[in-house]
Amino acid sequence: MMTLSKSLSGKLAIVLGGSQGIGATVSRQLAQEGAHVCVLARNKDTLDDLIKDIQELGGKASAFSVDATSSEALASTFTSIHKQFGKVDIFVHLVGGFTQFIPFEKITEQEWNQVLQLNLTSAMLSTQKIEPLLKDGARVVYIGSIAGLGPSPSAKSYMPYGVAKAGLMTMVKYLAKEFGSRKITVNSVSPGSTATERVRKIRGDDGLLEVAKGNPLNHVLQPEDSAAAILFLVSQQAKGITGSNLNVNAGSVM
Ligand SMILES: NC(=O)c1ccc[n+]([C@@H]2O[C@H](COP(=O)([O-])OP(=O)(O)OC[C@H]3O[C@@H](n4cnc5c(N)ncnc54)[C@H](OP(=O)(O)O)[C@@H]3O)[C@@H](O)[C@H]2O)c1
Repeated sequence: MMTLSKSLSGKLAIVLGGSQGIGATVSRQLAQEGAHVCVLARNKDTLDDLIKDIQELGGKASAFSVDATSSEALASTFTSIHKQFGKVDIFVHLVGGFTQFIPFEKITEQEWNQVLQLNLTSAMLSTQKIEPLLKDGARVVYIGSIAGLGPSPSAKSYMPYGVAKAGLMTMVKYLAKEFGSRKITVNSVSPGSTATERVRKIRGDDGLLEVAKGNPLNHVLQPEDSAAAILFLVSQQAKGITGSNLNVNAGSVM
């Protein structure tokens, strides 16, 4: 990870989708850098395990169980965080993904709506709810995807997911303009296939090795790779970067 020693002391961070996968690594690293991290996800047990780990290492973290597809539930969670801890310095939205590749002709309207809701609509609505609670100069980071750049030339891609992530990466530019007068930066980090439990189930470990063969580094991406980019974008050093997307895909798509 980046060596920005306790650079985030005194900062309040919200990591939506922060209990597992890339989000859990982001939550741990923000806490290591001294931020108080509010981790939001649905499963209470997974949340509690992560909070315990972070606290045992001397970090500050709190768990909030919430479904990011309910904007009312999100609004009430954000209000509760604000009442307890004050205004927010860092908002990272990681909720997203998909669970299986469905052939184009078999994609139902329900599947289409679910993928868009989880990956795109939840990002828009959560940002609308959090915006009044952000400090001037805050940092907002979303997770795009290599799939949002278009279908992969060398690996299987899932169209509804790619469309949702493309929308998200465009939303970043609109929000960067919208929030710029408050010095709030808005960016995205777009990983290639990364070895989280969810993606191991979809592609298998052999599949991830195959995907890696399609990138110039022959590197199986790890959650730490994307977390490092997110930690940079929320840092003071990144104050001049907004409306940008940072690819973390080992060069699969350039
Ligand atoms: N891994 C990759 O290869 C890859 C590549 C490109 C982009 N990305 C993007 O990176 C992000 C994280 O991916 P990941 O592989 O790390 O996923 P993951 O391991 O499945 O983690 C997802 C996190 O979001 C939470 N979450 C899921 N649905 C939620 C909901 N409705 N409400 C609240 N929390 C919810 C999960 O906890 P609960 O289930 O307990 O709610 C978990 O903490 C996604 O946006 C994904 O599209 C991943």
